[in-house]
Amino acid sequence: MTDAIEKVKYGVIKLLSGDIPGHGGDHILRVYTLAAQLNEKEKADKEIVSLAALLHDCDDYKFFGKENAQQLTNAKKIMQEAKIPFRTQESVCTIIRTMGYSNLLKGIRPQSLEGKIVSDADMLDAIGAIGTIRCLSYSLHKYGCLYFDKNIWPEVEISSDAYKSPNRKSDNFINHFFEKLLKLKNLMLTETGKKEAQKRHFFMVSFLRHFFEENQVPEWQNFLEKFLKENNLSI
Ligand code: ADP
Ligand code: NI
Repeated sequence: MTDAIEKVKYGVIKLLSGDIPGHGGDHILRVYTLAAQLNEKEKADKEIVSLAALLHDCDDYKFFGKENAQQLTNAKKIMQEAKIPFRTQESVCTIIRTMGYSNLLKGIRPQSLEGKIVSDADMLDAIGAIGTIRCLSYSLHKYGCLYFDKNIWPEVEISSDAYKSPNRKSDNFINHFFEKLLKLKNLMLTETGKKEAQKRHFFMVSFLRHFFEENQVPEWQNFLEKFLKENNLSI
């Protein structure tokens, strides 16, 4: 199986090596490593964890469209080329179909331990120092230099459809913390993931506190503290 996984890794890196902000091979390799580390404690099926971690973004609707996202065209193709057994392919596809923030907003979450581990690894890579850099690069890529407007407040109770809709008014670097990133700490599914999320959450809250202080926007400082308290996210 090790050879097959190497083949899958190669296929994924080749597919994602283009200009896809926040979703390059580096994100995939971090999620792959992180998932393996979580699994040392959680003890789920190693192969399924590795494959789902490597393939989870290969059919992202944002870059590959709705049809791919529904069919998992790229993930299936890469697995078939690497001769992954059909039953394993099915388990991996089930995990991919239940991962991600827009699924979560619809109440869909991974049920298997393997899925929970990969979901935690993917969400851990969206928070902390790395998550902050990914969020900034995504916003810069999409909107140029506008990353904070003190008069545009986040949609803290965002729906799955709104989250996916392009060019939303409140969509910017800072608002993304309130619409997604700060909430991830309480959405971890494994004990190991929860512990790591705590540290990464602490970094983001400190970053935002400094950011609002340096920008001299006390209304945002208050908003942050109230948001943390109301959502059980205080540090
Ligand atoms: P993931 O691969 O972690 O499931 P997404 O596909 O939602 O994440 O997005 C990829 C990266 O870009 C993540 O780090 C995410 O936080 C960031 N990102 C997604 N949407 C936005 C946005 N509207 N503004 C800023 N950053 C975003
Ligand atoms: Ni991802």
